[in-house]
Amino acid sequence: MAKIIAGIASSHVPAIGAAIDNGRTEEPYWKRVFAGFERSKRWMAETRPDVVFAIYNDHASAFSVEVIPTFALGCAAEFPPADEGWGPRPVPVVKGHPELASHIAQSVILDEFDLTICNKMEVDHGLTVPLNLMFGSPREWPCPVIPLAVNVVQFPPPTGHRCFMLGRAIAKAIESYPEDLRVVMFGTGGMSHQISGPRAGLINSKFDKAFLDNLTKDPDKLVHMPHLEYMREAGAEGVELVMWLVMRGALHRKVKEVYRFYTVPASNTAVGHIILDNTVPQRSTARKTAKRPVAKVKRAAARARIDRVRS
Ligand code: DHB
Ligand code: FE
Repeated sequence: MAKIIAGIASSHVPAIGAAIDNGRTEEPYWKRVFAGFERSKRWMAETRPDVVFAIYNDHASAFSVEVIPTFALGCAAEFPPADEGWGPRPVPVVKGHPELASHIAQSVILDEFDLTICNKMEVDHGLTVPLNLMFGSPREWPCPVIPLAVNVVQFPPPTGHRCFMLGRAIAKAIESYPEDLRVVMFGTGGMSHQISGPRAGLINSKFDKAFLDNLTKDPDKLVHMPHLEYMREAGAEGVELVMWLVMRGALHRKVKEVYRFYTVPASNTAVGHIILDNTVPQRSTARKTAKRPVAKVKRAAARARIDRVRS
């Protein structure tokens, strides 16, 4: 059976892609950002997932503002890099996994999450920059990637709770796929940033760090956060963080934080990154629930005996 072995989260910023594409990664400003992902690239090279499932947002590249699906699942065999205004990025074409993606579509839609199925889709910096940060710049991406595009561009985006529950449904789908695939979930976007208006340049490190803490230990604290709170605390584009909750929803309750990195700024954005190991043993709830009725029955029997003695 397929298994989700880890979840990672990473900001995406178009200027990070431009720094890579224009050979500027060694400049002090960018070195600080890329240095934080050296450990992650080693972890990725050691982990060697069979498939990446990447939750990201399209920035009016594939969909324009005329058609905006809330959740769009990439079921195609290939996803070429999108032209974001200065030509497509010189990165490899993203190869999909149509069989697993179709299985996920079927399972998740029959679980009542109405996904848009995309059999043709171009992918922008929202997806390709995190791939670079985690895999470097290989000639081919080392494994297939299934993209899930989430609308966080035009109001109303999905709630954090909806995203978390969708993550759960995706995990159920992946873990019912018969092939032994090791899957890593990517949640992309965030952290605090606002790229226009009077608050442009807003960064809130306190909010971001608390978000990272809760993401690992107590995601329940995040799932009911309203959009307005994201926007007030983390800037208008900070609402991209709901996508991290799809990733977290796909993981077990208990995860191990393997690595974290946070730096400010990259372009307008606070860059946050975390790696969560999803293979730690869970406390079994099955035993508890199996035991409870037995204990109840024993207590009831004892009460009955006492009543008999009394009468
Ligand atoms: C920036 C960040 C983003 O997430 C994005 O999609 C576009 C621009 C920025 O920091 O400039
Ligand atoms: Fe973005």
